[in-house]
Amino acid sequence: MSDCNTRIIAPSLLAADWSKVGEEVRRAEQAGADWLHLDVMDGHFVENVSFGPQFVAAVRPQTRLPLDTHLMMTRPDKYLDRFIAAGSDRITVHVEAQHDVRETLRRIRAAGLGCGLSLNPATPFDTVVPYLGEIDLLLVMTVVPGFGGQAFMEAETMPKVAAARDHREQLGLSYHIEVDGGIDQRTVAIAASHGANVMVAGTALFGQTDMAAAIVAMRG
Ligand code: DX5
Ligand code: ZN
Repeated sequence: MSDCNTRIIAPSLLAADWSKVGEEVRRAEQAGADWLHLDVMDGHFVENVSFGPQFVAAVRPQTRLPLDTHLMMTRPDKYLDRFIAAGSDRITVHVEAQHDVRETLRRIRAAGLGCGLSLNPATPFDTVVPYLGEIDLLLVMTVVPGFGGQAFMEAETMPKVAAARDHREQLGLSYHIEVDGGIDQRTVAIAASHGANVMVAGTALFGQTDMAAAIVAMRG
């Protein structure tokens, strides 16, 4: 398990060519990606619908990359078992969703998966402080979730990344700090300078013909 000082590059399958998803998954693995980020959207928590557990199960045998499943869902607790059974290696849920956050995080860990908590740009950092001791990863959304290709929201989100790093040090914790949305060759350095180590990128990676070069550049 990599530690929170290792930079991890996680292409988001949201930006892949879904007409050839198997090839795209293998392209990301061969290009040197560390994780594969799966953006699950329910059309209720966010204004878009992407894919469900059956899609995750279809991706699972295509790659050895850890599947980093991001549930942008109002009721992640209701579908959690299906995303676990589908082969996720880590599951991240939103603090704003309508569930017992502590219980959902406990269930993810009890299944032997890495557990993550995410907060949207408008959500204050204090909202996640009660859970910092129970997570393996904090995902600070750097766009309003729902669509790829949006602009990086620096002012609203970088102070929260820095706060996550400071709290981790003060509390002697070791969770990853992940950012997702508008991460490219420019913004990755800004996110890293504030303490992020897991970089989710869709457009800036799957949108490139030479993904390997883009990943090398994103590692800094
Ligand atoms: C939320 C999604 C997107 C996606 C990355 O809308 O989670 O942030 O992963 O999108 P890009 O990298 O294209 O901004
Ligand atoms: Zn995501």
